[in-house]
Amino acid sequence: MAIPLRKLTGIVFLLFFCPPLSQPLMSNRCPSHESQALLRFKAALNDSSNFYLSSWVNGTDCCTLWIGISCDDNTNHVVSVETLSFRGTPGTTIPTCLANLSYLHSLYLYGHSFTGTIPTFLCLLTRLTVLDLSDNYLNGSIPSCLGNLASLSDLSLGNNQLSGRIPASLGSLSLLRELRLYNNQLSGTIPPSFAHLSSLIELSAYGNRFNETVSSLSLPPSLQTLYLSLHHYQSISETFFHNLTKLSYLYLSDCVLNISTTWIPPFDLSELGLGSCMIDGEFPPWISTQISLEALAITNASLVGVIPSWLWETSPQLNYLNLSGNHLEGSLFSNTSSWMKLQELDLARNKLSGCIPSMWPSYMSILLLNDNLFSGNIHPNLGKLSNLNMLNLANNKITGVIPVSLSNCSLLIVLNLGNNSLEGSLPYEFSKLSELYSLVVHSNNLNGSFPSSIANCSKLQVLDIGNNLFEGQIPTLIGNISELKVLIMKENKFTGSIPLEIGQLKHLQILLLSSNHISGSIPHTIVFLQAMANESQNGFVLSTYINGPVYQDGLDMILKGTEQHYQYILSTLTSIDLSSNELEGKVPSNFGDLKGLRLLNLSMNNLNGTIPKSFGEMHQLDSLDLSRNHFSGQIPTELESLSFLGSLDLSNNHLSGSIPQGKHMTGFGESSYSGNPNLWGCPLPRNCSWPEFVPSPPPIYINKIKKSTKYPWYAISLGLSFGMAFGGIISLIVIKISWRNEYFNKVDAILKFLFPWMKNLTL
Ligand SMILES: *[C@@H]1O[C@H](CO)[C@@H](O)[C@H](O)[C@H]1NC(C)=O
Ligand SMILES: *[C@@H]1O[C@H](CO)[C@@H](O)[C@H](O)[C@H]1NC(C)=O
Ligand SMILES: *[C@@H]1O[C@H](CO)[C@@H](O)[C@H](O)[C@H]1NC(C)=O
Ligand SMILES: *[C@@H]1O[C@H](CO)[C@@H](O)[C@H](O)[C@H]1NC(C)=O
Ligand SMILES: *[C@@H]1O[C@H](CO)[C@@H](O)[C@H](O)[C@H]1NC(C)=O
Ligand SMILES: *[C@@H]1O[C@H](CO)[C@@H](O)[C@H](O)[C@H]1NC(C)=O
Ligand SMILES: *[C@@H]1O[C@H](CO)[C@@H](O)[C@H](O)[C@H]1NC(C)=O
Ligand SMILES: *[C@@H]1O[C@H](CO)[C@@H](O)[C@H](O)[C@H]1NC(C)=O
Ligand SMILES: *[C@@H]1O[C@H](CO)[C@@H](O)[C@H](O)[C@H]1NC(C)=O
Ligand SMILES: *[C@@H]1O[C@H](CO)[C@@H](O)[C@H](O)[C@H]1NC(C)=O
Ligand SMILES: *[C@@H]1O[C@H](CO)[C@@H](O)[C@H](O)[C@H]1NC(C)=O
Ligand SMILES: *[C@@H]1O[C@H](CO)[C@@H](O)[C@H](O)[C@H]1NC(C)=O
Repeated sequence: MAIPLRKLTGIVFLLFFCPPLSQPLMSNRCPSHESQALLRFKAALNDSSNFYLSSWVNGTDCCTLWIGISCDDNTNHVVSVETLSFRGTPGTTIPTCLANLSYLHSLYLYGHSFTGTIPTFLCLLTRLTVLDLSDNYLNGSIPSCLGNLASLSDLSLGNNQLSGRIPASLGSLSLLRELRLYNNQLSGTIPPSFAHLSSLIELSAYGNRFNETVSSLSLPPSLQTLYLSLHHYQSISETFFHNLTKLSYLYLSDCVLNISTTWIPPFDLSELGLGSCMIDGEFPPWISTQISLEALAITNASLVGVIPSWLWETSPQLNYLNLSGNHLEGSLFSNTSSWMKLQELDLARNKLSGCIPSMWPSYMSILLLNDNLFSGNIHPNLGKLSNLNMLNLANNKITGVIPVSLSNCSLLIVLNLGNNSLEGSLPYEFSKLSELYSLVVHSNNLNGSFPSSIANCSKLQVLDIGNNLFEGQIPTLIGNISELKVLIMKENKFTGSIPLEIGQLKHLQILLLSSNHISGSIPHTIVFLQAMANESQNGFVLSTYINGPVYQDGLDMILKGTEQHYQYILSTLTSIDLSSNELEGKVPSNFGDLKGLRLLNLSMNNLNGTIPKSFGEMHQLDSLDLSRNHFSGQIPTELESLSFLGSLDLSNNHLSGSIPQGKHMTGFGESSYSGNPNLWGCPLPRNCSWPEFVPSPPPIYINKIKKSTKYPWYAISLGLSFGMAFGGIISLIVIKISWRNEYFNKVDAILKFLFPWMKNLTL
């Protein structure tokens, strides 16, 4: 849906309101007490970047020189304040000095991390027509005195933590045109008084906790946009829509649609979204009456049957179609020429089968067909989609080769063909995909050598070719993919040694080369993997991989789609897995320089020498597996300082001497040390004085974070919309602890998927 588009107003604003650089000297129009109030406001906002508010300088004319301020042409009073969205200091409340700006018509304070309640002094600014407090952390209830703002036309309170009931008093705002209350914790229902809001054209109230009947309300017939989540799958019938003849944008979620197959709606929609609305049947026939439809999303709605062929004939304007997460079956028509305007298609997670059509509208930018039962080949014609940004065909039954022509889709950002039955090689020509950020082809039957030409994909950050039949050496040019953060080549037939050039990958956080036939020693350059060397590993800032807001939609998409798995992983995880190869020689003695490493698996190789003392410096290590090698000598006592260690396996080596008796070391089971004939001390039975009492292992770091499921996950992707994208996901998470909890819960699930041993940990 088009909701995030509003975020772009910020940019437009900047362009329009930038004052000319060489401002001729003119009288200072700005009323002094108002400019002083604004300066106090600036001080309270603490714009640490000093970017947006740097033009607010004491003594200069706020009317003409200050970005974001405008004054009345006649009275010179400040009438509009719009401080562009930037992260403020968490904990800041909306400053009371704004009360001095009594002539304000418009107050935009979105996206500043404001906390506390909505201050009632705002109710005294009776000239306000626009009040935008969205994207903050405001809590408490909506003050009923907002009903006094008789001129109010646009009230935006979305993306906060407001609770309580909506004040019925808002129903008296007869000039109100747009009311946005989405993503809060409001309870009760939409007040019946809203039926009298005769000017209301937009009501956005999805993502709340309404616990009373919403579906029997009457809403004003002026409504053009209605975004609503119902409570507990309330049933919505035709009468609900009876008077809504002007409706153009409709989004409902968590409802049960109780509508007859012969219904002819009184409206003609441009956008229709039904998310998690139980339809439990075939495609609703009344949609065929919606001839102006441009965007249609019916997701997670238990839709069955086939996608009706009339869809394209009756809604020729359709450019966005999202039917993901249903039970749709059957095949897609081979003749897609009637899908003329289609740009984004998401049919993921259905039971669609048959071949993937060869002809697609040329403007396609997003094509997500993953998690279905598609078979057959990828037609070379797909290479004609020169606007394609995202192609996800993962988790199907696709056979044949990867067409070389895909290399002509020069705008591809994400290409995921994982978990199919593709064979043949990875096209050499993929080097032309200069925008590619993520290339995932794992779990296929691809063979041949890995084309070093891929090194030309200079923006590549995620490369996953694991679980295939690739052979030959790991190309030295791998070191040239300088942005690489994830390199997964596990479970192939690679031979030769790990190239020294691997150490050039300054951003690499995940290196999985396990289960190949890689020989030689671990290159000493491995300690140059800088992203794994920083102890306070904070992950990377998302906005760095896609330049600016141009690809913002794509960015949101990546988060929402399957690529999110990597996002979650990347933000916390650093991992090296070289297990089950033929590596030999000593581990570099300064290996412990990788102080940010969380998971290290070197098991099932022929490594020898002693365990480097420097391992004791990897303070963030969660899991260390050195089993089934030829390590000898004593276990260094330095390992006792690995207090986060949740899993340790040193078994089946030639270690000798006593096990360091620090509590972390003895907390692991006997199996962590078994198979070392000359090793003794607890927890091994050999001269252990307290074999019957074994303390449980220390919890690993994610255990310590309490579960909280209160916050919806989409909050995070919302936070990434324009403005906040600069801060990146991590900073947001740090600001708001409940997001953080939710975030780590996701991470748990992903970690368990990638690292199955974690399942055994009690979370
Ligand atoms: C202003 O922000 C900076 C950076 O976020 C912070 O270090 C500083 O403590 C803040 N100052 C106040 C007064 O909140
Ligand atoms: C702005 O400058 C005036 C005069 O120099 C001074 O009185 C006032 O306190 C200043 N205001 C702020 C907020 O610094
Ligand atoms: C609002 O949040 C703050 C902390 O962020 C808390 O102290 C306060 O009790 C909350 N107020 C309400 C009304 O929930
Ligand atoms: C709705 O939720 C609010 C806040 O949790 C509660 O006070 C109220 O009693 C609930 N109403 C009903 C009808 O359950
Ligand atoms: C539709 O409007 C009529 C006349 O204003 C009103 O009587 C009726 O209750 C409304 N119906 C619904 C479902 O809102
Ligand atoms: C899908 O809908 C079901 C109820 O029909 C709901 O329980 C579930 O959370 C929804 N899943 C998603 C991913 O929205
Ligand atoms: C890529 O596009 C060019 C120009 O349209 C065409 O000549 C070439 O054959 C295409 N390559 C492949 C492999 O389809
Ligand atoms: C890779 O890029 C270099 C220089 O940018 C170019 O000379 C070379 O031909 C490219 N290789 C491939 C396989 O595209
Ligand atoms: C790879 O990187 C090295 C060192 O940075 C550079 O000399 C070489 O030209 C690069 N090769 C290619 C094909 O880009
Ligand atoms: C389709 O809808 C699902 C569920 O709302 C969402 O996660 C996904 O990102 C959407 N796909 C596109 C292409 O917008
Ligand atoms: C280390 O790798 C081996 C072989 O790939 C695997 O069996 C073992 O479970 C891994 N250890 C951990 C702790 O994941
Ligand atoms: C512990 O056992 C080993 C052999 O199993 C023996 O060499 C060593 O002396 C014993 N140490 C103590 C303190 O009993």
